[in-house]
Amino acid sequence: MEKTKKKKRKTFTRRDFLKGFGGGALSAAVVPQLLAHDIDSLRTKKGNIPLFSKKQISLTVNEKKFSLVVEPAETLLHVLREKLNLTGTKTMCARGECGGCTVLLDGNPVYSCLYLAVRADGKKITTIEGLATKEKLHPVQQAFIEKDGYQCGFCTPGFIISSVALLNKNNNPTLEETKNALSGNLCRCGNYSRIHEAVAAASKNMRRA
Ligand code: FES
Ligand code: FES
Repeated sequence: MEKTKKKKRKTFTRRDFLKGFGGGALSAAVVPQLLAHDIDSLRTKKGNIPLFSKKQISLTVNEKKFSLVVEPAETLLHVLREKLNLTGTKTMCARGECGGCTVLLDGNPVYSCLYLAVRADGKKITTIEGLATKEKLHPVQQAFIEKDGYQCGFCTPGFIISSVALLNKNNNPTLEETKNALSGNLCRCGNYSRIHEAVAAASKNMRRA
């Protein structure tokens, strides 16, 4: 009997996992999304979620190396904004619907509000702060300014990062390809046509350079 009890304490269930976050806004808004994307990667072969605590991770952010201790449920977005003070990456919906928190992770765009920091261990991350050099803006940033690719500007960092990801892989996208690549980013000001124009201008300039 005692043996069985000891065995049960080694792991805990999905229900225990949710209880551990309490009943506040975090569990209501963020955890369901984290669970949807990440919970399966945490499971043991038996299907349980192992009990684990804070973890030390290493990240390369905008070419600089960082060593950090993170909570199991801490998002990459939280680490970037609250621990590294990189507030250019925006918190908008915090549940994978708007793209305001988009960063490049090993060159691919990801929603940092849904990406657990522990999963980013050893990865290379580029945020909006990492695009310009001291001398000049990234061609995509420059084109967004020249083509009025923003109104309130809140969605702009996410759009620029997604556009950079697109142009790094396809330096001459069609309008359709641009729309597809940016379909995970929402602009509440409805500035889409100018955003698409900015991407086309940046593409032209990048091909010339
Ligand atoms: S803040 Fe991450 S997708 Fe909206
Ligand atoms: S420019 Fe305002 S949300 Fe896009």
